[in-house]
Amino acid sequence: MGKGYYISRHLATAAMVLAAIALLTIIALSVVYNREKSKNAAKFTNATTSPVPPTQKTSNEPWDKYRLPDTLSPEYYNVTLWPRLVKNANGMYIFTGISGVMFTCVKKTDLILIHSNKLNLTLFKGHHAKLTGQSGVTAPAIKTTWFQMETQYLVIQLEGKLKPGKSYWLYTEFTGELADDLEGFYRSEYMEDGEKKIIAITQMQATYARKAFPCFDEPGMKAVFHITLIHDLETTALSNSQEIKTEKVTIDGTAVTRTIFGPTKKMSTYLIAFVVSDFKYISAKDKKGVLVRIWARKKAIEDGQGNYALKITQPILEFFEKYYNTSYPLSKSDQIALPDFNSGAMENWGLVAYRETALLYDPQTSANGNKQRVVTVVSHELAHMWFGNLVTLKWWNDLWLNEGFASYVEYLGADYAEPTWDMKDQTILYDLQRAFAVDSLTSSHPLSRKEEEVNTPSEISEMFNTISYSKGAAVLKMLSEFLTEPVFAKGLSNYLKQFAFGSSVYTDLWDHLQKAVDQTPGVKLPYSVHEIMNRWILQMGFPVITIDTRTGNVSQKHFLLEPEAVVDRKSEFNYEWFVPIKWMKKQQVQDQLWLLQKSALHKPMKVSKNEWVLANLHVSGYFRVNYDLGNWERLLSQLESGHQVIPVVNRAQILDDAFNLARASIINITLALRTTKYLLHERKYIPWEAALRNLNYFFQLFDRSEVYGAMQAYLKKQVKPLFEYFGNISSNWTAVPSGHTDQFTQIIALSLACSTGVEGCRELTRNWFKKWMQNPHNNVIHPNLRSTVYCNAIAAGGAEEWNFGWQMFQKATVAAEAVKLRSALACTKVPWLLNRYLEYTMNPEKIRKQDATSTIGYIASNIIGQSLAWDFVRANWDYFFKMYGTGSFSFSRLISDITYRFCTPFELSQLKRFQKDNAETGFGSGTRALQQAIEKTTAKIKWLAENKEPVHQWFLSESA
Ligand SMILES: *[C@@H]1O[C@H](CO)[C@@H](O)[C@H](O)[C@H]1NC(C)=O
Ligand SMILES: *[C@@H]1O[C@H](CO)[C@@H](O)[C@H](O)[C@H]1NC(C)=O
Ligand SMILES: *[C@@H]1O[C@H](CO)[C@@H](O)[C@H](O)[C@H]1NC(C)=O
Ligand SMILES: *[C@@H]1O[C@H](CO)[C@@H](O)[C@H](O)[C@H]1NC(C)=O
Repeated sequence: MGKGYYISRHLATAAMVLAAIALLTIIALSVVYNREKSKNAAKFTNATTSPVPPTQKTSNEPWDKYRLPDTLSPEYYNVTLWPRLVKNANGMYIFTGISGVMFTCVKKTDLILIHSNKLNLTLFKGHHAKLTGQSGVTAPAIKTTWFQMETQYLVIQLEGKLKPGKSYWLYTEFTGELADDLEGFYRSEYMEDGEKKIIAITQMQATYARKAFPCFDEPGMKAVFHITLIHDLETTALSNSQEIKTEKVTIDGTAVTRTIFGPTKKMSTYLIAFVVSDFKYISAKDKKGVLVRIWARKKAIEDGQGNYALKITQPILEFFEKYYNTSYPLSKSDQIALPDFNSGAMENWGLVAYRETALLYDPQTSANGNKQRVVTVVSHELAHMWFGNLVTLKWWNDLWLNEGFASYVEYLGADYAEPTWDMKDQTILYDLQRAFAVDSLTSSHPLSRKEEEVNTPSEISEMFNTISYSKGAAVLKMLSEFLTEPVFAKGLSNYLKQFAFGSSVYTDLWDHLQKAVDQTPGVKLPYSVHEIMNRWILQMGFPVITIDTRTGNVSQKHFLLEPEAVVDRKSEFNYEWFVPIKWMKKQQVQDQLWLLQKSALHKPMKVSKNEWVLANLHVSGYFRVNYDLGNWERLLSQLESGHQVIPVVNRAQILDDAFNLARASIINITLALRTTKYLLHERKYIPWEAALRNLNYFFQLFDRSEVYGAMQAYLKKQVKPLFEYFGNISSNWTAVPSGHTDQFTQIIALSLACSTGVEGCRELTRNWFKKWMQNPHNNVIHPNLRSTVYCNAIAAGGAEEWNFGWQMFQKATVAAEAVKLRSALACTKVPWLLNRYLEYTMNPEKIRKQDATSTIGYIASNIIGQSLAWDFVRANWDYFFKMYGTGSFSFSRLISDITYRFCTPFELSQLKRFQKDNAETGFGSGTRALQQAIEKTTAKIKWLAENKEPVHQWFLSESA
């Protein structure tokens, strides 16, 4: 599944004044991990909330187990589906279908288990299916059939045994609801030219194919699919493979179109897709004749919003063909933008689905951050066409490898398509630092889980998290860097060749990488790939490396944000890692060092008083670095006297490490604050963004206390040169800076300057917005700056500005523009407006279901909105739990968003009470987020008691 789009925890912090900053990040930045999945609920309620986890059930009946037995193996399916895009007599949207599966018996059995969920199956002589033998074999008669609700099986008991080596055909006819639940085969509605349109679309990952037709719904159960769709005359049908026949037919007196698709390659059920719509497309053929099409709403295509995606798809496919050394496995590549889609995107093989904001780009109204999001998400999904789709991990416990891998290589593909955008450097912001934030808590978990630990749909759902995506990406990047990219790519391509159209486990990749190492002279590892990687994937967390440049001593320690936290989880490796350390001194890159023990002497790291050591060069490793005080001082003075000597990503990492070491009470907070002093001279995006995130954290700790004034004054001083610099190079804010990331920095300059009151900033934004209000058809605000300007103007204004924004939101035809307005509406300081806005999140006519939880998150990031959002969610807990409780990311984010600012004992007690009061309803997929919130609040209370005063003093002295 692709990446979603959300404000991450550290962005959702900002004080009212700083809301502008949070928003800029939302827009400017692209991709974050999360797919805001599954919204409809109730389905797995029993699985998620029953006090005894169903996996531990004592029943030994095969139908009570969540995993299919190894007795049967599917060969191919013939599936015909007919979605009805108008309500039936009972006021319901439905689809009908017929489906058959040819399977081979592998082991003798008199039982067939096949997944089927929420389908009403037609009875044949009292049974839910028909079974026939192939090539002269007679199938045993069916004794009885029933549905096993909890495990989502159709159970078929036979009178006699199936014979090993023989094939059978299992046939069903069924009706299902075409609900608006964003799962399985579902419907989506949108308005076009004042008319309501309905389309039928799918989301199968992870366990929803069984809701569209009965199937062996496990990723390892690959088969060929022959798909046929019946649909209204004026609509088009799409599926994974190319349509081979489209004909008009009359069925039950209705004239319809029948579209028959060619057989798919052998593939997993979770990658199946169907779409019936009246969408339009643009297309091109690549050099090898692969047909590339971009599909979207008619108006979006006519406005040219698909052009950018079409333009970059070809270079990205070309890049991956080279990188994997394997041709694109299919004859066509469709990509479609859907108005209602819960994850960011889904890598259905040959028919990739996206949220509109992840595929469409409108040069008139979209910011360059929106464009970056398109290139990274497209790259992520196309990377899966090989890694994930051609070769599939056998079971969901290895999801981290599938998603971590795509999250890593998406930057390589995006960099190839947009070589001037510094895409590779941006990984540290969007993967490494994001992963560090959750992986430094005791509630984290190892990347890899045992196969038998992941069984139920909600356990599978939980695998889609920041650790899998971002830590996965960071750890694989480190692996690629210490192996060197050619070796990594060689092992990878051999792995793809061996397992093409099949499935594997993560150690298969390690085997091929090891072979590539063994075959490459000059690459030496201290241990095998397995041994090195086990420490990174089988134990949670990561180390902080401490370098004492007085002695050359290098040591490691498990990094925890809460210094006194007790780690319950045992690790066979005692929380020690094999750490590849790239480093430099005297402005010269040194040989890579491996730290293989708790501590070791490394003489070259002993330096004299006028040299410094910088470790984790280019931030290729997944660890933090601390130094002796003398080296810190020398690094700080290097930053102030000539920061360019230090690579730009390391400047960002020094900031991020220092702040987090201070939060963990490993270094003095004043030392961390001092890393921001050189920002007076900094003009690059990545360090500013890293600084901003860490300062945002401070804002939410201090914006309700007396520290706030002094902090504002200091930041105002720091950002003023940046604001003036961008004023100059943009001819007083009329032109756009030419560099891609410079455009991001410009947004930071504007947001931070306005929020800290730099002269001239607020007037600028207020006037732009006023001009727009006076002439709503001519928005003069540059798309890059819109989020910031909207937020500032709505924050400074009242009901009139808010209502104008709301009107524009409702009229917006470009999804990216709608997101900017939806988030800016949360910036108002007027409580009744915020409360009304919160109410809107429970009304899908006003706020789409896919957007409800993120809207609450925006409101909670506003200092005034935070307590309103907290009260609102608590008051409506049953509703939110029912609607979102089983989804994975959106729900846990809701919990972390509304509790993000908590830092007082009173808030901690409220949090604990909330946990107790709702113990019965439960927290579903947000259970871990709630534990994290309690852990973080506890840590903040303690930290504040010790550090508030020094922080206050420091800001006072620096802002004087
Ligand atoms: C949940 O459990 C209750 C009682 O055990 C049962 O009646 C209900 O059908 C179950 N619901 C689902 C969705 O399995
Ligand atoms: C399934 O469909 C394919 C392609 O149309 C056809 O060749 C095959 O005979 C069908 N199988 C069965 C059992 O109907
Ligand atoms: C399936 O059957 C149940 C029970 O008869 C009924 O309530 C439901 O509406 C049916 N669903 C569809 C999609 O026909
Ligand atoms: C941190 O440094 C400041 C200023 O140098 C000092 O006042 C304070 O006591 C130090 N705090 C700790 C915890 O060492």
